[in-house]
Amino acid sequence: MEVVIVADAKAGGELIAETMAQLLRRKPDALLGVATGSTPLPIYQALAAKVRNGAVDVSRARIAQLDEYVGLPADHPESYHSVLRREVLEPLGIGMDAFLGPDGAAEDVQGACEAYDRELAEAGGVDLQLLGIGTDGHIGFNEPCSSLVSRTRIKTLTEQTRADNARFFDGDVDQVPHHVITQGIGTILEARHLVLLATGENKADAIAATVEGPVAAVCPASALQLHPHATVVVDEAAASKLKFADYFRRTYASKPEWQGL
Ligand code: GLP
Repeated sequence: MEVVIVADAKAGGELIAETMAQLLRRKPDALLGVATGSTPLPIYQALAAKVRNGAVDVSRARIAQLDEYVGLPADHPESYHSVLRREVLEPLGIGMDAFLGPDGAAEDVQGACEAYDRELAEAGGVDLQLLGIGTDGHIGFNEPCSSLVSRTRIKTLTEQTRADNARFFDGDVDQVPHHVITQGIGTILEARHLVLLATGENKADAIAATVEGPVAAVCPASALQLHPHATVVVDEAAASKLKFADYFRRTYASKPEWQGL
């Protein structure tokens, strides 16, 4: 995997948005897998700025959801369906007809998960999947000890993740659902390019385990080591526990520009 250490979240957002723009110039109808959480917001802001100034055309782009809470209606303000509409689709001017996501309110949850995996495959697969990382090393909502070959399915959140996400529910952990639908790790690994952004010191342990630890279900993000094209973009704080940080810095500094991420 390639590790790129950037100065701050804004620089990471700009770098990744430019990578998405390059992809869209090559493939205007690319299927972009997007993540929620605070970390990717600078990416969406930078991409929206490129759309506004005409640097990229997203009129044929398609957007795919990574995960969803179970039991929240789609129009609940904190369903990931609503969050992505607000933070990604509306600012980019992409209509909901170009949006793929699992039905978190379905009665047949397993059926909804299987249907979503089929929908992704029928859409030609995800071209670029953005990922954040949980403080416990989760990607999507694949909590520690998730199967590394898992498909989209229902999962139970750890108390750590529920506490981390309580800030989106008036700080009240009791409002955070226990169950979620998430693309499985096997599903995520099918995307053509994985790009994980992590910022802040509270992600440093998870990033060290992801990049330099063994491939192990206890750190789901370590599955990125199995992908032929995985890019991990981190700020100095999130990189602070990487033993190979200097090597990663030197490698990126001497990388030919034409290679992109
Ligand atoms: C949630 C999402 C993840 C995200 C994680 C980290 O659990 N399901 O996709 O990566 O939060 O969020 P943040 O970027 O806000 O730290």
